[in-house]
Amino acid sequence: MSYKVGVFVGSLASDSINRKLARALLKLAPSELSLIEIPIGKLPLYSRDYDSDYPPEGRAFKNAVAAVDALIFITPEYNRSIPGALKNAIDWGSRPWGTNSFAKKPSAVIGASTGQVGTAVAQQHLRSILSFVNSPEMAQPEAYVRFTQGLIDDDGNVATEKTTDFLRNWLQEFHIFVVQVVGAQRITL
Ligand code: FNR
Repeated sequence: MSYKVGVFVGSLASDSINRKLARALLKLAPSELSLIEIPIGKLPLYSRDYDSDYPPEGRAFKNAVAAVDALIFITPEYNRSIPGALKNAIDWGSRPWGTNSFAKKPSAVIGASTGQVGTAVAQQHLRSILSFVNSPEMAQPEAYVRFTQGLIDDDGNVATEKTTDFLRNWLQEFHIFVVQVVGAQRITL
């Protein structure tokens, strides 16, 4: 059985290292996971004024989340948290009240940073948000990619066997997690 996985890239930068990481994950994913990016860069800033009449961008975003079985969040760390663009996208998906798009969608969090802490603090913030929007999160393995020059090229080719194996294993673990969560949700009591 195959699963559609929506991918969010938290950075809007044209030379984003997290986008390079996203391209690497697309290449390394097992055949059972079909990774599709859900863009966040064109969403307006969320306001609850929109809740009574969601604009086309907001509806398209929610439809894209509804169309996938699982979610991967690839985030940089900006000032020890997630970028505003990513939080904005999550706010869009979580509303209007009662139509939270993330509920029960299994998710995983990963990120690349040039700093020593390797997105750990941002990922903890993101995990807190994902808990609130009721997305079951893969707890382990954690994935903090310390990005050094040339580690992943623009096409998503990973320079070292160690990082390749790490990312491939992380994706395989996520596949197992998705099978478990989606399978459990199919049980009718
Ligand atoms: C950063 N950077 C950064 N790095 C880190 O490890 N912890 C942090 O809190 C921050 N804070 C931060 C804030 C802002 C506004 C910027 C632009 C950058 C450095 C960051 O890891 C580096 O710029 C990465 O390249 C960001 O990922 P993307 O945007 O290239 O995917």
